[in-house]
Amino acid sequence: MAKTKEMKEILITGGAGFIGSHVVRLFVTKYPACRVVNLDKLTYAGNLANLKDIEDMPNYRFVRGDIVDGDFVQQLFRDHQFDGVIHLAAESHVDRSISNPMEFVFTNVIGTVNLLNAARHCWGDSPQGKLFYHVSTDEVYGSLGKEGIFTEETRYDPHSPYSASKASSDHFVRAYHDTYGLPVVISNCSNNYGSFQFPEKLLPLFINNIRYNKPLPVYGKGENVRDWLWVEDHARAIDLIFHRGRVGETYNIGGHNEWRNIDLIRLMCRIMDRKLDRTPGTSEKLITFVKDRAGHDLRYAIDSSKLQRDLGWTPSVQFEEGLEKTIDWYLSHEEWLNNVTSGDYLRYYEEQYGKR
Ligand code: NAD
Ligand code: TYD
Repeated sequence: MAKTKEMKEILITGGAGFIGSHVVRLFVTKYPACRVVNLDKLTYAGNLANLKDIEDMPNYRFVRGDIVDGDFVQQLFRDHQFDGVIHLAAESHVDRSISNPMEFVFTNVIGTVNLLNAARHCWGDSPQGKLFYHVSTDEVYGSLGKEGIFTEETRYDPHSPYSASKASSDHFVRAYHDTYGLPVVISNCSNNYGSFQFPEKLLPLFINNIRYNKPLPVYGKGENVRDWLWVEDHARAIDLIFHRGRVGETYNIGGHNEWRNIDLIRLMCRIMDRKLDRTPGTSEKLITFVKDRAGHDLRYAIDSSKLQRDLGWTPSVQFEEGLEKTIDWYLSHEEWLNNVTSGDYLRYYEEQYGKR
């Protein structure tokens, strides 16, 4: 039987962010008998507008707070009877981790350990039926050459401060399972795309820049390869793993959908020319090759056959269809984009890409 039937209250961290907002929406609407507490600090990447459509649902509650504050996290666990935790809160952008690694150590490592401690103390010696689900990334596995694919057995080999901090948090989660018997599960997913993604990441940044005729800063020669997954397919995988995954296991999530950055960017340019009624070839002229990212991983590719075989998950959205939908969403949500691209974002943009 699905565990949600028994789970009365769960904590989702980072629910105001990109993936977290899709996970919160799925759980709040699909499981009305389960109370969902969304804990989020609302950093630059967290935005309550991402959850406007469900904020008044009776089984949803938002709590603003910082997972780095251990006392606050312990108190939250005393105030509630969480049966499960889905932990997504993180600093998530590689470029920011290169310029400010300490934020990544605080939130991704110390924040995760604070949550593990709170769950352990709260659930005590009989944590049966409880679950701490840690959401992680394929970037912990490092970089592939032209061949190969990441499986759950691939050795960790992180290269950026972001991926090193996520790898560290994964190790702590496993250590709490092995040492204290905390019921945990981990998933490592490839690059997500879709609505509500902060426009510092490739897709929303480039859609926005094409729209406003701004240069498209392609790192290096654009030869790096990423494996793209529709964010709602990730949220469905999290739902499945949370309810049916085996305690102590790791599951890789990915869509078998590899794209060289430059090919993906050219495809986006063609689609945007069509949608914006521009002469074919107009948007491609915005492509500007810039200095490569330091330590830039060449290629990610995920083998998700364990998840497909054991839990029956398959991606539901074809990439071309998902990309069209994603572009349409950003084009029709100008107000959302304008709100998140003011203030701090402008300072970040200038530091990262120079004045334009
Ligand atoms: P995001 O940056 O969009 O959202 C992160 C959220 O965490 C924000 O709402 C932010 O306010 C919150 N947060 C940050 N620091 C916090 C703190 N100290 N206390 C409480 N809340 C805090 O990130 P995302 O892209 O949605 O990623 C979510 C998770 O999924 C992360 O753990 C990330 O490593 C993982 N992941 C992301 C991808 C991807 O392609 N985006 C792929 C695989 C895994
Ligand atoms: P990103 O969306 O930052 O995800 P990640 O680094 O976690 O994979 O970047 C995706 C790819 O796009 C990556 O190879 C870096 C590249 N990229 C650019 O070429 N220019 C940019 O301005 C950004 C943000 C990314």
